[in-house]
Formats: sequence, structure tokens, C-alpha cells
Amino acid sequence: MSEFLKIAHRGYSHILPENTIPAFLKAAECGADMIEFDVHLTKDGHAVVIHDNDVDRTSNGSGNVKDLTLRELKKFDFNFLKIHGLGILSIPTLEEVIDAVPDNVLLNIELKNCPHKYYGIEEIVITILKKKNSLNRAIISSFDHFALEKAKELANDVKTGMLYEGGWIFFQDEVRHLGAYSIHPAIDTIDIDQLKWAREHGLRVFPWVAKSTKEIIFLKHNNIADGVMVNDLTLFNNI
Ligand code: G3P
Ligand code: CA
Repeated sequence: MSEFLKIAHRGYSHILPENTIPAFLKAAECGADMIEFDVHLTKDGHAVVIHDNDVDRTSNGSGNVKDLTLRELKKFDFNFLKIHGLGILSIPTLEEVIDAVPDNVLLNIELKNCPHKYYGIEEIVITILKKKNSLNRAIISSFDHFALEKAKELANDVKTGMLYEGGWIFFQDEVRHLGAYSIHPAIDTIDIDQLKWAREHGLRVFPWVAKSTKEIIFLKHNNIADGVMVNDLTLFNNI
């Protein structure tokens, strides 16, 4: 495990179709300490890994995840980058991702709860993490801070990551209220003093998404982050 965590955003999404098993395995193979991915619920209540509310951009199918059953979703091909040799890629369930990713790789599970609210998503995800003995290697993150609050109510030992962007007047109150393990600010809108305060108070800081090595060096040099999410893991080379 690196001191400054290399976090693969949607897996190794720079070179492979985002949020697919090959993207996660490639990230692990290339030294990612943590993978970030997004979770939605299907019509029949399964936790699936996909970024958008609908499947249109990343598959050959069409429709909202919430309106499709897992069986229907599994018929679509998510090799939307048409990478030769990968064949047909089906949407992974959360359980399939946990099973596939090596145990030493941490999981940053983003609950997508906006604009569509998935009632019960917190309980479904926590139940899966417990069943798979993976609660201790996971952070549940979300822009929906009510979901983070709910997750802590359901499992006090779950690590939650406060996702946000832009300025926050009551930032410290929000962090304290949530009992968050980490904060996940948008890299373009970081407030250095807030990040320093968070680290001084024992929180981990994982900004998203660095697009250049220069940005990573900036975070390290100013001692304001514990790692950073990237699409391209080669940005960590030689720093
Ligand atoms: O988890 C950080 C980041 O992934 C949030 O934005 O749109 O890429 O899910 P998005
Ligand atoms: Ca995400």
C-alpha cells in the first residue's frame, strides 16, 4: 500500500471501459491501492456498477437502470470503447466486483442517489459488504449526505466519504455531523485550509479527479491529501 493512495477512478478508465471488471483488474495489476466506482439499483433491487442513471452512453442498450431488471441489463454489452479482444462485457453487480478485485485493493463505493433516489440502497450495499467480509476495505461515498448518515446508522463501523464540490460555509459542521472517515472534494474547487483542517482532525482527503502529474505533485507538496483519484494511473509514474 502506497503512503499516498493511487485511486483508479471507475477502474483504469483511461484505457478500458469504465466501471467494468477488466477496468478494475487492470487497475489492480497496475498498482492501484483503491478503486472508485458507482452503484445504482436495478428495478428488481440489485446493486449494479455503472456511472450514469441510464445505460445509453456506456452500452449498446437503452433505458434507465431503475426501470430495468438485472436480467434485462445483463443482455447489454458495456464494451462501449470497442476494445478488441475484450469481447462482450456485461454490467457488473456489486458482488461480482467485490469477488473479482484482489483483497488488498480498497473499494470506494459511490452511491448514486441523485436525481433518482434509490430507497434502501444503503442497506443493500452494507448487507453485501458484510456478507463478503469487505466492510473493512470499503469507503461508502456519496454526494447525498443523507445516504452517508443512513449508512452510519445502519453500521456504525462503516467508513463514509463526504463527496462534494464548491464552497461550503458550514463545512466543519457537516463533516462532524456525518462522522465521516474521509472527504472527497472536486479537485478544481479545493479549499486548502479546509483540507488542512480535515487532515489535522484525522480525516483522510481523497480529491477527484487529477488530470495531470502536476496536480498530484501540488497535492503532495502542500501535504493536503492522502491520495487522489485518476483515470490514468501513469500520472503517478516518476513522482
Ligand atoms: O467519487 C468521485 C467522483 O467519481 C464523483 O463524480 O461524476 O465521476 O461520479 P463522478
Ligand atoms: Ca463516481
